[in-house]
Amino acid sequence: MRPTHAKDRPAAAPPRPVAVAAPLASLPRRPVADDGAGHGVTEGSPAQHGPLPVGAAEVRRTDADVPGAVGRLLDHVLADRLRRARLADQLFAEELAERVTRFTLEGGKRRRAQLVWWASRACAGRDPASAAAALRIGGALELLQTCALVHDDVMDRAALRRGRPALHTDVADRYTGRVGPERAERFGQSAAVLAGDLALAWADDLVAETPLAPWTSVVVRRLWSDMRTEMVAGQYLDVQGQVTGARSLPRALRAACLKSALYSVERPLALGAAVAGADDVTLHRLCDAGRCVGMAFQLRDDLDDVFGDARETGKACGGDIREGKPTYLVTVARARAEAADDGAALAVLERWLGAAELTERGLDEVRDVLIATGARATVETKIDRLVAQGLRHFDGARLDPEGAGPLRGLLLAAAGTAPAGDAAVRLRPVHGPHDARSRGTEGAGR
Ligand code: IPE
Ligand code: MG
Ligand code: MG
Ligand code: MG
Repeated sequence: MRPTHAKDRPAAAPPRPVAVAAPLASLPRRPVADDGAGHGVTEGSPAQHGPLPVGAAEVRRTDADVPGAVGRLLDHVLADRLRRARLADQLFAEELAERVTRFTLEGGKRRRAQLVWWASRACAGRDPASAAAALRIGGALELLQTCALVHDDVMDRAALRRGRPALHTDVADRYTGRVGPERAERFGQSAAVLAGDLALAWADDLVAETPLAPWTSVVVRRLWSDMRTEMVAGQYLDVQGQVTGARSLPRALRAACLKSALYSVERPLALGAAVAGADDVTLHRLCDAGRCVGMAFQLRDDLDDVFGDARETGKACGGDIREGKPTYLVTVARARAEAADDGAALAVLERWLGAAELTERGLDEVRDVLIATGARATVETKIDRLVAQGLRHFDGARLDPEGAGPLRGLLLAAAGTAPAGDAAVRLRPVHGPHDARSRGTEGAGR
């Protein structure tokens, strides 16, 4: 007998409606002036996209405080995302979406957003459309950064971020009493995976909803897409190198470039230049400058992990050593110790790299080895060279001096070599005075 296919069976009774929050409640309302074909929808209007620099005065106001302007934009965008998250589910909104929102609104120096803004201004982008796009893409980068950091802290088993408990740690702490420490820890990690996904989705939304001229849109979307892929590639090299004990110097540099230099500096510059409609030569000069400074930024981050002050970085010291990260710093030390046949130094590295039980004393021993092998000095010299090379590229670009000055200062600050008291560049964190990094170290931390 022929098997009965579903379509041969008599029609079943219509399914009963499932009780979920009606997603239709969240559909955008058509503007009154809309003709039904979408012509009345002014995509770039402040009503739809929040506070945006729509005129020369607004552009000036943003110039004076880019982090503040990005903060206001994110306030607006995230309030809307939260409202819609609540429609999906109240518990999810309270425990996850609000966390993502808080992390993004309270966090960081808005370094990437500032780079986008000033790169756009340095490429003479001051018309309302490119100013609005620069600000929105800056905001999207801040959300991408939320994703990157929240996931990074799970992978790196880092308990502290921006001077506060990392997101997965915070969730775990809140559930420990209810479900026990092991289940809470596991749950914290799961929640952080989802929080990062949500931040990434919101970042992508923000870029997708940014009105751009057709060719600019092609360039911006390609840059955005490549940047995301590069960051994931770099993070993969990082954790794969960690688990396999990678020791190659070129590979260490490649991982630093992919996981950090590109999305932290080079791509934000390129995105800013792209929204301003910069020519190819300018775009390439800025990219070259950004690559060098971005590398310097990550090499400084690696030094800070070992030699920095947790009150300034907002992160625990020695995480890279405890996890056994094959950073350029550590890889140089190992190569030097091997070349010098320095058994004692190699034994210290062998003992403490990747040791979950790393003690303060052990970290001191590692510090001594990094200094004695000359690895620390090598990395510092490399940072100086990268910054000098980056500035040569930068100074070779034909830029509008109004934007070029602050942008140059930002690049120096990103590499940790900002001239003290540069009033044109605000790198202070946007959150309160209690945060460790507001005590005056403008270069440290992400
Ligand atoms: C992380 O590199 C890069 C990304 C977040 C994509 P690190 O692991 O060195 O960053 P920190 O030191 O935790 O900030
Ligand atoms: Mg990390
Ligand atoms: Mg990491
Ligand atoms: Mg680091």
